[in-house]
Amino acid sequence: MPLHIEKGDITTYPTDAIVNAANRTLLGGGGVDGAIHRAAGPELLEECKTLGGCETGEAKITKGYRLPAKYVIHTPGPIWYGGTRGEAERLCASYYNSLRLAEEHDCASVAFPSISTGVYHFPLDLAAPIALETILSFLETAKCVRDVTMVCFDDKTLAAYEKALQALQGK
Ligand code: APR
Repeated sequence: MPLHIEKGDITTYPTDAIVNAANRTLLGGGGVDGAIHRAAGPELLEECKTLGGCETGEAKITKGYRLPAKYVIHTPGPIWYGGTRGEAERLCASYYNSLRLAEEHDCASVAFPSISTGVYHFPLDLAAPIALETILSFLETAKCVRDVTMVCFDDKTLAAYEKALQALQGK
């Protein structure tokens, strides 16, 4: 199975790329964004400053610096406003565009956090199926990416993604 769901800290993953749930400035923040910048060191912010920000649902790539991962793919997920402002499509785009960048950079392995389900308040039970459907669909035709890990930081998130994967496999 090319898709794994695990509990862990994404800054410890030695995958070719890890994805950062960033904000549109790409200048760091709290949550997983803060953890990745702390672990990567100050050079990550220096490179991010050259990128000119990033639109919601888009993705930009940098080196991983002191992280075990080779690259960091930064994507601002959507802020949840209730579901009537294209949040689902933008969340799908964040996963898709991150995988597209990983493919373009010959990455075989990619680790994702649960984008938008923290500070951005995207409901976990809606986000998990969107994330997994997007990843599984991409993997059907991917040439380089062949191993994707959803790295869940807590048990609630882990349970939501495991439930979503079972529901998808049951289809
Ligand atoms: N490894 C993996 N997942 C983590 C880690 C970590 N080290 N730290 C936090 N997470 C998880 C959170 O528990 C949550 O499940 O990442 C998920 C996404 O939560 P946030 O980091 O809050 O990201 P998001 O909801 O997308 O909000 C983005 O928060 O930190 C700021 O700069 C960021 O403004 C942006 C906003």
